[in-house]
Amino acid sequence: MYHEPALLQETIEGLSIKPDGTYVDVTFGGGGHSGAILSRLGKQGKLFAFDQDEDALVNCPEDKRFTFVRSNFRYLSNFLRYHGVAKVDGILADLGVSSHHLDEAERGFSFRFDGQLDMRMNKQSELTAAKILNNYEEEDLADLFFLYGELRNARRIAKTIVTARREKAFERISDFVEVLKPFFGKEKQKQDMARVFQALRIEVNHEMDALKALLKQSVEVLNPGGRLAIISYHSLEDRMVKNFIRSGNIEGKLEKDFFGRVSTALKAVNNKVITPRAEEVEANPRSRSAKLRIAEKV
Ligand SMILES: C[S@@+](CC[C@H](N)C(=O)[O-])C[C@H]1O[C@@H](n2cnc3c(N)ncnc32)[C@H](O)[C@@H]1O
Repeated sequence: MYHEPALLQETIEGLSIKPDGTYVDVTFGGGGHSGAILSRLGKQGKLFAFDQDEDALVNCPEDKRFTFVRSNFRYLSNFLRYHGVAKVDGILADLGVSSHHLDEAERGFSFRFDGQLDMRMNKQSELTAAKILNNYEEEDLADLFFLYGELRNARRIAKTIVTARREKAFERISDFVEVLKPFFGKEKQKQDMARVFQALRIEVNHEMDALKALLKQSVEVLNPGGRLAIISYHSLEDRMVKNFIRSGNIEGKLEKDFFGRVSTALKAVNNKVITPRAEEVEANPRSRSAKLRIAEKV
């Protein structure tokens, strides 16, 4: 299966779909969420779906109400304008990679296989994991492992990488995993390795920058009463989403007007983050870290 959608029911309910509305799924993937949106739309409804990975094309439905945009969602408003759409009634983002990415050895996202150190969601982009490992300064490597991987021994890992690449440039996952293994105790080896891979993937795909751009544009393109639903899998992403909904900026700084009032463009629909039920996690363990936030345009 290409991808099992996370928090499907909760997300669709949160979008509060109007049958004749216009919706955007900015992370189409296997099309599970998109399919559920289409099933709630009437004849006049429209769905635009973005994915930067051309592999997702195979999942596109034959449906007149559906338009696929093979692009990064950081260009959301430009592409909507190109398709003659000024405003939409709902935006869904289910961030990160799909199971398809993790299960395809040659894409290089998983340490379960010995593929190239690639990790690009967009196969036409320049930066790969190998380029980062072979060229970034030691300090920049340490920062990305600390920030995106939340690894406490980020500095030592970065130093080891820089020492190892003097002998031989990194090309394959197996070489990289061998260099890192001594850092992680047996019990937590998989967890820590997953954090290292996550950090590299976030950097390769500039995921934090894309999310920032998406949040800013969502406010411009949503109709009043329109809904924004974001599923994130990493605490940095969730913090960014939470701050933006609360304050209108990613730092979470509450800005007051002349009268001391805080006015924000979005209002949280769920104050508490929505996480998968135990049955969902059991059926689909990859949904474990999913966190859903829903907001409404004021
Ligand atoms: C978690 S999967 C989405 C799965 C989807 N909700 C489903 O039901 O199958 C994330 C998808 O979004 C795509 N993606 C991630 N970041 C993106 C970005 N900045 N722009 C466009 N597509 C992106 C990935 O290529 C991947 O296919």
